[in-house]
Amino acid sequence: MTLKELIGQMTVAEKAKFTEGINAWETPALERLGIPSVRVADGPHGVRKQNDTEDTTPEAAGTVTSVCFPSASALAASFNRGVFATLGETLAKECKALDVDMILGPAINIKRSPLCGRNFEYVSEDPYLTGELATAYVKGVQRHNVGVSVKHFAANNQEKRRMTISAVIDERTLREIYLSAFEAVVKGADPDSLMCSYNGINGVFSSQNKKLLTDILRDEWGYKGFVMSDWGAVHERPLGVAAGLDLGMPSSGGKDAKDVEEAVLNGTLDESLLDAAVENILKKVDKYKGIPLLHEGEEAGDQARKIKPQFNRSDDHKIARKIASECMVLLKNEGMLPLSTSEKIVFIGEYAKKPRFQGAGSSHIEAFRISSPLAAARHFADVRYKKGFGVNDEKLDEKLADEAVLAARKASVAVVFAGLPDEYESEGFDRDGLSLPEAQNELIARICRVQPNTVVCLQNGSPVTMPWINDVNAVLECYLAGEAGGEACAKILFGKTNPSGKLAETFPLKLSDTPCRENFPGRAKTVEYREAIFVGYRYYDKVSMNVLFPFGHGLSYTNFSYSDLRINNKVDEVEVNFKLKNSGSCSGAEVAQVYVGKPVGQVHRAVRELKGFEKIYLEPGEEREITITLDKRAFSYYSAGEGDWVVEPGSYHISVGSSSRDLRLRGVVTLDTNGGSVKLHKADELPTYFFGDPAVVSDEEFATLLCAPIPEADYKPGEKFTLFNSLEDVKNTRFGRVFYRIAKLACKGHTLLGSKKMFETNVLETQMRNYFTWSGGRVTEDTAKALLGLFNNEDIEKNLKIVASAGIDLVKGRLTKK
Ligand code: BGC
Repeated sequence: MTLKELIGQMTVAEKAKFTEGINAWETPALERLGIPSVRVADGPHGVRKQNDTEDTTPEAAGTVTSVCFPSASALAASFNRGVFATLGETLAKECKALDVDMILGPAINIKRSPLCGRNFEYVSEDPYLTGELATAYVKGVQRHNVGVSVKHFAANNQEKRRMTISAVIDERTLREIYLSAFEAVVKGADPDSLMCSYNGINGVFSSQNKKLLTDILRDEWGYKGFVMSDWGAVHERPLGVAAGLDLGMPSSGGKDAKDVEEAVLNGTLDESLLDAAVENILKKVDKYKGIPLLHEGEEAGDQARKIKPQFNRSDDHKIARKIASECMVLLKNEGMLPLSTSEKIVFIGEYAKKPRFQGAGSSHIEAFRISSPLAAARHFADVRYKKGFGVNDEKLDEKLADEAVLAARKASVAVVFAGLPDEYESEGFDRDGLSLPEAQNELIARICRVQPNTVVCLQNGSPVTMPWINDVNAVLECYLAGEAGGEACAKILFGKTNPSGKLAETFPLKLSDTPCRENFPGRAKTVEYREAIFVGYRYYDKVSMNVLFPFGHGLSYTNFSYSDLRINNKVDEVEVNFKLKNSGSCSGAEVAQVYVGKPVGQVHRAVRELKGFEKIYLEPGEEREITITLDKRAFSYYSAGEGDWVVEPGSYHISVGSSSRDLRLRGVVTLDTNGGSVKLHKADELPTYFFGDPAVVSDEEFATLLCAPIPEADYKPGEKFTLFNSLEDVKNTRFGRVFYRIAKLACKGHTLLGSKKMFETNVLETQMRNYFTWSGGRVTEDTAKALLGLFNNEDIEKNLKIVASAGIDLVKGRLTKK
């Protein structure tokens, strides 16, 4: 039987059921036709298999222990496709052994602002790097017949109001910056599924955005897998089916399936669209589990489905260590590193003992074996320890600080372990600033006054400011390095491993330097991406701004020299050849980076953009000839006028180097094309984008770039709310204010997936519809509708009674039932 024939045997109701999960983690099964369900589990840097599949509330968190690998910001710093492939393969084996068919990752949203709470889970500020690394991860996982869900498609670049906000983005920026990594993964690795984001793009929620899910994803990119929603991102399910959202997650308790069934029966949803969604899902169900009716008469079925891989957590822990040692970035070194075992060394800061090795939220792993830098370092040398400050301390404890300063004075080198506490960066909310807790900055400053040989090791998921940078000898950015990060860190500190990580994001000098400083996290309804394509280093280079550490930066214990650049213009591609030599005295790896720029042209451009990179391991004295090939896309921009990528004719600058600001070789290639004939804008229509500072763009110019009026950013007084709004949206209405306060109080004391604040933001910022679809019947649709009526000042008496009978007293402002 073919898949189409199988679907032909299903009733509309049965098909509709396939458009939503049956619980928090499984797709529906249909016994009558022998269709099994498929199980998904969170990633991306470890398998978070949740024991309880039935509980769809976000607080259901009981998870199976597994190996916690470095999180994505760390992984990205490896600049190594092989690392992502290894991680993918290892995760796939763990998934198989745990009966998980699909891992929810990688997460590849672009780091628009260093304040995004979830940046630790995202790869980079650069779409090319993100696409390359994510493609390797996806191939690695899928090689073992386990699926991925590449997320969050698209433009989920902040946590604040992530479930309701609409990102206002011009077409070119959307394509070049926010979609192109997804495009690369779809075209390069054929991911089994994609997860749509919560937010909207230009006024249409991703979960029902046809342009995104069908026109671009399927029609332009040729996508063959299925699309699932982020958890609770569904709004109107029939519209989602029509737009290309195949599976809504988690279960809505049957409401969504009922809506889809009704829509087909009353003719508002074309049945062929429902069939297409079911087909997309069942293709993958068959791939992982096998649907017997599709294989009648076949002998053994697909062997790949039957292989139970070997899985050993201790071995995977070693892989986690090896990966972590490729991810750490030596930001500064004036000679103190590597440490000599004969030094009198003191480690300071509780992070030395209790490392922060992962971020909070849905990626939170019940780690198998956590190694601390202190314990690991004691294998190499006699290291003393002083607490100095606790991992969550805001203010210095003077006694602890004095002890640490004294110990630092007596030692010959002080290594301070600093980092961001869990409540500083997490899924669910954004960061307040770029600083480390004051206690840490203050203690580092005091230590530097007595000890010139001070080294700082950082454990954080995204950039921090370093007010003490000129006073310390060395800084090792360990990122959130996974459960084996402590061992990797100790090996680097003592020179057993030569650091080779490079920053996949810029570390700005201060928050007020960042490109979206004026427009992050936006207003009530929208967030305007006014800086357009000038994200990360594209911005800092455009305005020639000094940064703390540039994109691509990372030191080594050896030196590398670059020479003999040759640029070979072949018809369809450009070959960049150069020689790389390890001119130092120890073996090590360098990430050679190739940037392309076009100083003169018809459109606004970044000064340079990463278009190629290779990590190369060399023995001392060894020299190798490197070739990096640039295809047409490396020279293109997305022309919104033409609806296509175009290569402008003319001269392009090619630079090769060790970071975006340490360029060692430069050359020019001239391309003779006829692209770029349709011009949307002239330079004098977009003066800031061409010649100015794109962090500050006028309304008029932004509207010109958008080719549309700027949408309303705030709610008007008296504007009617819907169940797709959140409590955050209604909190200024008469009853919204009361309920917001009650809800906030009720959240107190709840921790969710490693974070205290995330539970609260989930409740206050989720669309109100999720109160009844998520609560497993605890909140009914009628109660949610009555609440909404009150927020809209409608039928007050009647609605107060309905909510009161559900235990919500909005007159006295309290809950009467749990
Ligand atoms: C997150 C996703 C995650 C899902 C399931 C959502 O809140 O945004 O990344 O995969 O929950 O836990």
